[in-house]
Order: sequence, then structure tokens, then C-alpha cells
Amino acid sequence: MKRVITYGTFDLLHEGHINLLRRAKALGDYLIVGVTSPDFDVNRGKINVRQSIMERIEAVKATGLADEVIPEEYVGQKIDDIINYRIDIFAIGSDWRGQFDYLKEYCQVVYLERTPGISSTQLRNEERPVRLGIVGYSQDVEKFIAESRFVCGVEICGIFYCGSDNRSQDQSIPTCGDLGQLYERCDAIYVANEPKHRYSASLDALRHGKHVLCESPVALSAEEASSLFDIAATHDLIFQEGIKTAHALAYKRLILMLKSGKIGDIVSVKSTCTSMARDIPCGSLVGWGPIACLPIFDILGVDYTFVRAASVRGASDKDLYTNIDFVFPNACASLEVGYGAKSEGELVVSGTNGYVLVPSPWWKPDYFEMRFEDFTDNKKFFFQLNGEGLRQEILEFMQMIKGTRRPNLSISKSHSVAFSGLLESYFKKTIPVYTLKKQADR
Ligand code: CTP
Repeated sequence: MKRVITYGTFDLLHEGHINLLRRAKALGDYLIVGVTSPDFDVNRGKINVRQSIMERIEAVKATGLADEVIPEEYVGQKIDDIINYRIDIFAIGSDWRGQFDYLKEYCQVVYLERTPGISSTQLRNEERPVRLGIVGYSQDVEKFIAESRFVCGVEICGIFYCGSDNRSQDQSIPTCGDLGQLYERCDAIYVANEPKHRYSASLDALRHGKHVLCESPVALSAEEASSLFDIAATHDLIFQEGIKTAHALAYKRLILMLKSGKIGDIVSVKSTCTSMARDIPCGSLVGWGPIACLPIFDILGVDYTFVRAASVRGASDKDLYTNIDFVFPNACASLEVGYGAKSEGELVVSGTNGYVLVPSPWWKPDYFEMRFEDFTDNKKFFFQLNGEGLRQEILEFMQMIKGTRRPNLSISKSHSVAFSGLLESYFKKTIPVYTLKKQADR
């Protein structure tokens, strides 16, 4: 009996896939189809797959052409499968010609003619895109525009510059002279103006029936942050706070592992984010705080019982450096942020059985380590990081708008309200805030 194997993502199963499976089956008596797992696809940069692995497996099974369907989970698995399943022929579409010649050592390799004029990418592109408008401009916006190009089904349709904003280097994005013009063109707004104006910009966009992805912090008071979520819910719109680290695969997996008790009960979270900035437009806590606070609220929740802050201020009274200590019912946490002071930008989570270290710069995570008393138990985890998490952030925002998937997001209403509330308490000094020293701005 001749055994044939083939592999693919098989997203939105189409005629090209069916022809390929039919031809592969005709090469032998028994056909095994490997369907790529989400992790495998993400690792090779394929992030736009619409269907879950189970939906794709079911679709392949429903063709009646596969005798067996298996998941493809790791690089090199094809060699293992060919040996384990005693494969005679490896078959794949002609778009891969030459790329699997290394398998000739193990079995016969056949490239089958690809069906012209159809692909999953094409089908995904046929869906009406979510048209996204941008309010405000910063370096983050330039990255946002670049990353949006990797996300299928999103189209940046205009930008509204506020005041003396620099202009985007991307000349293909139309400038809108007023917000009305921007709203007319788009379904959703990315709010990336100065922190103090984000609340009003988000509110205005929501009132005009637009979904909103707003850079963090979304507001400078708890009440304002809360009202944005309430208005969005009332009008059946998506309102999302944008913290790109929250969407990085390594970060998401870290949180899941911690919640599964891998290092025991958590006793402390220490998070540090610093960078030397020439000008400090909004101070360290507003600039870095959302990221530094992210793992603290994700891991320990938002119901701290005590908090105190200490800042080193510049001549303009902006904080060059801030340290915040929190006490929770069963754990403590601290964050250190600085635009005018430098430290090791790592995240350390301590537990009753071990600890996690995410090395600097932890907010761009692609790796972390779990360490234990017996170092032979230590484990290192590596993940693909695409666009510092921004690509995934845009993708998940789009999925929520389309209602196709409900991503497991850590930044919920309670998280956003808690962080905006922390800023409010810090600025109004309703929590202990110590000024350590005034330094000349650099
Ligand atoms: N295939 C084919 N003819 C097509 C499309 C795909 O023969 N028109 C083959 C591929 O060569 C591969 C298998 O089907 O052997 C699975 O391909 P997959 O990558 O899942 O499909 P695509 O439509 O190419 O997906 P995408 O656009 O996401 O790359």
C-alpha cells in the first residue's frame, strides 16, 4: 500500500485545496493530511488565518479525501511524520517547488500543479476591510501604520493631525482636514494623540458611532475611563485600550502559565521600564506606567489595599523617575519607570515554588525563564514576536469588530479604569506621593 502525506493551513477551504488533495490521494492508496497548528503558523509569520484548527481539520475531513488528519506543530515534523507513518510519497503544491527537496532522503517528493486564480489570502482579502482612521501622530503611529500592512482586512483610510503634530512619512495615508471628514471615511478610530486629549477624542469618536482603539492611558481619571467603556457598550461598539505588550504571544503565555500555578502562589511582581528620552512630553508614569502596571494588574488583580509613590521630578515638574509600591491581600508589587533614569528593564514574578524572569527589555518579550530552587527544573520558553505585539493588537481589534473571534485579552474595563484611577490619585495626591528631589531637565 502506497502512503502519501501532504501539509497545509487549509484556511477557508477552497477549490485549489480540494484539487490538491484529490491529486495527492491519486498518487497512492492512503492519504494523510497535516493541518498547521496556530502556533506553527504564527512562528512562520502567518497571523491572518481565519479559522480555528478544528474548523480547518473538519473541513479537510469533510472532503472525504483524507484517510487521516494530523496537526503540524513544529519545524522538522515532516521528517518525523514520514518515518513514523512509513510514508512513500510527500506531495505539495508547485508554489513550494524545490523547497522540500531535502525530504528526498526519506521518501519520494512530488510537486503538484497549483490551481491558478484562487488562494486563502485572496478569499480573506475579498471580505470588506475594517476602515481605520487615526487621530494624532507620534513615532508609535508610524509603527502602527507599518504593522497594519501585515494584517489582512484592515485599511488605514485617513489621519487627522492635532496641532503641531509631525507628519507621517507614509505619504499614502490621506490627511483629513477635520474630524468629520475622517469619521465619514472610517468604521473605527485609532486614538494616538497626547494623553490629556485622549479621553475627549475617544468620546467624540464613540459618539459618532466609531469603534475605538486608544493608546494607553485612555484617560486621566477612573470616571472618564469607565464612561468610555459604558458608552461603547451602550452603542454596541468596541472600545479597547492599546498596550502592545499585552498582545505579544510570550506575554500571553506567561500570564496563562502563572494563572495555572506553575510557580505556586504569587507573592510579588516587580516590573521596571526605563529609557533615556531627550524630551519628556508627559512624564515617566504616564508614558511608561501603562506597560509597567500591566503585569501587576494582570497577575494580582486591581484590588490593592495600599499604594504609595515616590518620584524624582525635573524642573518642569514632570517625573523623571517614579517608583510605586502596591500591597494586595496576598502579595505585593512594585513598578519603576523612568525617562530620566536608567535601570534593568526586567520583569520578575516570585512565587512559593519558583520565579519567572523576563529579561530586559521585558515589554518586547520573546523569551522568559521559569527558575526553581533545583536549577535542573528550570525551563526556558521562546515565542515569535511579530511587530512588538502591535500586529496582533491590530488583528485582535479587527476580530472583535467583525465578531469572528473573541480574543482572550488581559486589558479589560476594570484594568483600564484601575490604571486611569491610579494616575488620578497620583496627580491629585490622594495617595502618598513623595517627591525625592528636583533635578534639572536634561
Ligand atoms: N494549493 C493549490 N492551489 C491553490 C492554493 C493552494 O494547489 N490555488 C495547495 C498549496 O500549494 C498547498 C496546499 O494547497 O500544497 C495548502 O495550501 P495553503 O497554504 O493552505 O493554501 P493557500 O490558498 O495557498 O493559502 P494562503 O493564501 O494563506 O497562503
